[in-house]
Amino acid sequence: MNAAYPALRLRRTRASSWSRRLHAETVLTPADLIWPLFIVEGEGVEQPIASLPGVSRWSIDGIVARAREARALGIPCVALFPYTPAHLKTEDGREALNPDNLMCRATRAIKHAVPDLGVLTDVALDPYTTHGHDGLVDAAGYVLNDATADVLIGQALNQARAGADIVAPSDMMDGRIGMIRGALEGEGAHNVQIMSYAAKYASGFYGPFRDAVGSRGLLKGDKKTYQMDHANAEEALREVALDLAEGADSVMVKPGLPYLDIIVRVKQRFEVPVFAYQVSGEYAMLEASVAAGAGDRDALVIETLMAFKRAGCSGVLTYHAAHAARLLGA
Ligand code: PBG
Repeated sequence: MNAAYPALRLRRTRASSWSRRLHAETVLTPADLIWPLFIVEGEGVEQPIASLPGVSRWSIDGIVARAREARALGIPCVALFPYTPAHLKTEDGREALNPDNLMCRATRAIKHAVPDLGVLTDVALDPYTTHGHDGLVDAAGYVLNDATADVLIGQALNQARAGADIVAPSDMMDGRIGMIRGALEGEGAHNVQIMSYAAKYASGFYGPFRDAVGSRGLLKGDKKTYQMDHANAEEALREVALDLAEGADSVMVKPGLPYLDIIVRVKQRFEVPVFAYQVSGEYAMLEASVAAGAGDRDALVIETLMAFKRAGCSGVLTYHAAHAARLLGA
């Protein structure tokens, strides 16, 4: 006979805190978090970002302090993004190739101060270009694929030489994962990982990030000729399949919460490490709802991060990383 009410009461295991903990199907720990950080030139500089309340750009000394904080909180990895001074931005984004650019200096400083903290660097040209696109544009403003990939290879090598542990191409050019892997192997950088932003959508949720890296006002047009159409899911699976075949160690889905269906499908299909980026607009939306009195920050932060774990993620990039790690460690 099938067990059914009243023999079976699913509320029974929920009736006390110890039992809820015992029956939890998913765990969230600080080790599931990657903390994105914005770097700015100078010393002792902290610049709050208005559209990302609670998040600042830090000069390298502040970035190192954040790295120590991450280490102390049990966060395994930080992700770095530079705010490039206007005079260093060019049409071709060549500052990305400078071995002494802000990213490389910050990477070296972190690896020196906190050697066992992972450093993930973003491979894309948008912080360095005068037009705000992730690659090289032709006269019509079209982002060129192969010419861009050539520069991205140089950028990834530049970051790896500075000590990056994971290079994360966020540009969505075709074929770049295989080319970057080949170039890293050619240098003997066998253990530098590639986390591919494999399914990255052309999204309205990136606005505050573009403020943070100073590309928002510069961006000509949109990124729809390279980032994915949010109507598509099968195409995300094709993107992931290609990046894995080219040598990606892990793949990312971005943005996060509006794309949980993609995360589930990628995880079920490929059984590889999947990461989500809970992006700037998601962070801002959550903070706005807290500011409006609509919800409790701590509860919302943990619930949203748990959703990524439940969907199958190995980890999440989130601006709430330090806050969440504090809550989880308490
Ligand atoms: C660009 C890049 C973006 C983000 C990470 N890398 C923005 C974009 O594609 O325009 C967005 C992250 C966020 O919104 O938090 N290479």
